[in-house]
Amino acid sequence: MLIRSRPSWALPERLTTPEDVYMNRRQILAGMGLGAGLLVSGGTVQARAEGDPTADLYPAKRNEAFKLDRALTPEDVNAQYNNFYEFGGHKEIYKAAESMLKTRPWTVTFDGMVEEEKTVDFDTLIRAMAIEERLYRHRCVEAWSMTVPWTGFPLKALLDYARPLSSATYVRFETFMDPDMAPGQQQFFYPWPYVEGLTMAEAANDLSFVVTGAYGKPLRSQFGAPIRLATPWKYGFKSIKSIVKVTFTDERPKSFWEQLQAQEYGFWANVNPEVPHPRWSQATEQVLGTRDRVPTLLFNGYAEQVAGLYKGLEDEALYM
Ligand code: MTE
Repeated sequence: MLIRSRPSWALPERLTTPEDVYMNRRQILAGMGLGAGLLVSGGTVQARAEGDPTADLYPAKRNEAFKLDRALTPEDVNAQYNNFYEFGGHKEIYKAAESMLKTRPWTVTFDGMVEEEKTVDFDTLIRAMAIEERLYRHRCVEAWSMTVPWTGFPLKALLDYARPLSSATYVRFETFMDPDMAPGQQQFFYPWPYVEGLTMAEAANDLSFVVTGAYGKPLRSQFGAPIRLATPWKYGFKSIKSIVKVTFTDERPKSFWEQLQAQEYGFWANVNPEVPHPRWSQATEQVLGTRDRVPTLLFNGYAEQVAGLYKGLEDEALYM
């Protein structure tokens, strides 16, 4: 079970794809004229964005309160290096996700401890929200990082929309379950569907963001279209993709990775360079699209906004 279920992304990046190999491959592909391929792929994406029923909402105004201290990761780098296990366990699942993920019709169900359970069409939901662009860091537990111009709305606005009972203490998110559409879900040793969770206090924090777009247009499939989370002070696996269900509960949700390997992946998963993963260091991170390896920051640089959430919880495994 351990060997079969060990996710490939749980290996240090330098073991799965040595940096030089990765960088060389990109240079070689560029030299082979893949630039043209990217243009074609960009054209396809553009065509899709134009056909997207929410395309008119983009680009949204940038919220200048959320800035970065480093360059944005180029879209083509970010869009071709993804974790989306529903479409495979390697980094280049973007083609599979782009061709197989069907994002319309798409509904989101709100249930559990709510005033009233409801299911809403995604296109109706997004038009009930005020969307904005934010520049966020993203730090994967595998020790690579990127920076992304996400578009979406505060998770707090989704909570207000869902109207949870005051007795709810956690919110649980679930990705779609459709093994015919997503072949990775035919791998029975994974505990599908993908699940993640936050405390209500974390969910209401201003940094918690519901993402519907990136790079000034509706979300591309590989990023977790049409609706995903971004919780940038936590390891990237908390940022669940392609959400279909939001459940309010008073029981701590057990996430996909925690069900698979609880000794390595916990509920909190806050970024901390001083707490290594059981199998590798978290002290530094490889910045995607560059040759830079930079120090990782506590809470991924967002300590000022989120450290207060964890007062009194010091006995918990906050950093795994
Ligand atoms: N959500 C789902 N449903 N399935 C996944 O495999 N991978 C997670 C997270 N959300 C994942 C997911 C991990 S490990 C990371 S690092 C980020 O998505 C990757 O987001 P990106 O592909 O947009 O970089």
